[in-house]
Amino acid sequence: MGWISSRIASGLMASNMQALGIRRTRSVALRYNRFRQRELDERRQRLYRERFSELLTENGPVVGNENVMEDGWALDISRRLPGIDELIAEAEEIIAERGLKATKKPDTYRAFFQNIARPEDSEKYPAILNFVLSSAVLKTVCHYMRTIPVLSGTLPPGIRLAESSAGFDSKALTYRDSQLFHLDYYSAPMVYVIVLLRDVTEQAGPFCWVPAGGSQAAVPKLKYWEKGTPYRLGDDSFYRAVDRKDVRTLCYPKGTVLFIDPSICFHYGSRDAVVPRYQMMYGFSPVYRSDLSELMMKSLRYFVRPNASQLRRMVLEPEFLPA
Ligand SMILES: [Fe+2]
Repeated sequence: MGWISSRIASGLMASNMQALGIRRTRSVALRYNRFRQRELDERRQRLYRERFSELLTENGPVVGNENVMEDGWALDISRRLPGIDELIAEAEEIIAERGLKATKKPDTYRAFFQNIARPEDSEKYPAILNFVLSSAVLKTVCHYMRTIPVLSGTLPPGIRLAESSAGFDSKALTYRDSQLFHLDYYSAPMVYVIVLLRDVTEQAGPFCWVPAGGSQAAVPKLKYWEKGTPYRLGDDSFYRAVDRKDVRTLCYPKGTVLFIDPSICFHYGSRDAVVPRYQMMYGFSPVYRSDLSELMMKSLRYFVRPNASQLRRMVLEPEFLPA
């Protein structure tokens, strides 16, 4: 089943799937990936339906709020999810070591945003995985996705420590790239778990989103994902289809956690971040994706600790299935 070569995949993925348009490219990718991974996908869905509570119990108790995603999102402002304070403390160590060192040329693609996490951090800083693989977090994610997903190994990386700063660009430019409204096309569904590592105010370029209902009502009006429509939408065209008051803003204290499906909720962030913004951004996808990134890049592998629970292994290792 190798009928899509990496060269063809790269061509179809180029410039945000411009050749065929995002909608058609995604449907090709979905069919291809689903065919390749149908058995794994079905096994994971069945394990979710039939054995999820057993797998969750083995993984650990559900502590803290039980968040349920509705209209594509859920917000936890309790700061009581297990491991949240350890996560913030370890992230601050990484920020102290690597923060505010620009890795891209000013004004180039997404220079205002960089990921300062490295794949090996998943071993060196155990709170990074312990937080997101806790039963409280996985219960929210798996119930929404109706399956046991994986931490993304390609696009976007499943673990990012995102640092946004206006200081990475040389001058005030018009908004561009992920500062403009868009939907992510990598997988369907998809869940991001976004953790604020420091307080976020309007000065830190907060993440903003439109809940799923309002977003999806706008898709046909915007002809979004059709060939010829830009992937990133300027505010002028976007607000012709969406009411400004439907936009939510992630201006909250550190320790706030947003669960969101970025494939159905329009979003943007990192505008005018004169105060640098720091957030963990975890990405979950089903074992099959709606893009062709796995044909173009080597998937990241995350640390699997000895005696990891079966649920934990399933999220970290796409091929792993419990006995
Ligand atoms: Fe996005």
